[in-house]
Amino acid sequence: MKIDIITVVPGLLESPFSHSILKRANDKGLLEVNVINLREYTSYARAQVDDYPFGGGAGMVMMVEPLVNAIESLQQKNTYDEIIFLTPDGETFNQQMANSLSLKNNLLMICGHYKGIDQRVREHFVTREISIGDYVLSGGELAAAVLTDAIGRLIPGVLNDETSALSDSFQDNLLAPPVYTRPEIYRGWKVPDVLMSGNHKLIDEWRHEQSLVRTKDRRPDLLDK
Ligand code: ADE
Repeated sequence: MKIDIITVVPGLLESPFSHSILKRANDKGLLEVNVINLREYTSYARAQVDDYPFGGGAGMVMMVEPLVNAIESLQQKNTYDEIIFLTPDGETFNQQMANSLSLKNNLLMICGHYKGIDQRVREHFVTREISIGDYVLSGGELAAAVLTDAIGRLIPGVLNDETSALSDSFQDNLLAPPVYTRPEIYRGWKVPDVLMSGNHKLIDEWRHEQSLVRTKDRRPDLLDK
């Protein structure tokens, strides 16, 4: 899969993809992330990419021309399955969306800044508008990094133990059960006996029960789905 990300602050996206699982995905050739600096696509003086909003009001708006230049130039080389604009007024990102986006080949993400992007870009190019939650970030970069991480780890072959994504929280609308590792007893705090029993049927049942208890307790809304 290839994910291209258009931003005015490429430095913000330098590190998230150079570590751990996403780095491994890149090293294995399973995920390529390209960060595109919008300022390279403007014809305005001093690499201007934003301007005052028509009609007045606070804040700046990202201009249509540099964005369209960048998108159309990228489209000459790629056919995108989705062009995603990260914005607080988009649909809220969740695990199901991560699952379905992980099956695509080519994604383009656009990070907004200031008061947002000229509406004409949204109307004529963007195919999906996504928010990572009901709060406002200073730009879409961290949201793009969140999507890339959640999507990238689901690409087949990226995780070492392929089954581990299936037992993540939110797959099946359940939160994940508690986990333990060595030592079996620490300061007198003991690991539940069932996990030491070697009986995998009992262990699976216990984990499912714990998932239900945790979900009922913390996120009862998930059980209604
Ligand atoms: N840009 C600013 N806030 C955002 C959010 N909550 N989700 C996605 N993009 C954003």
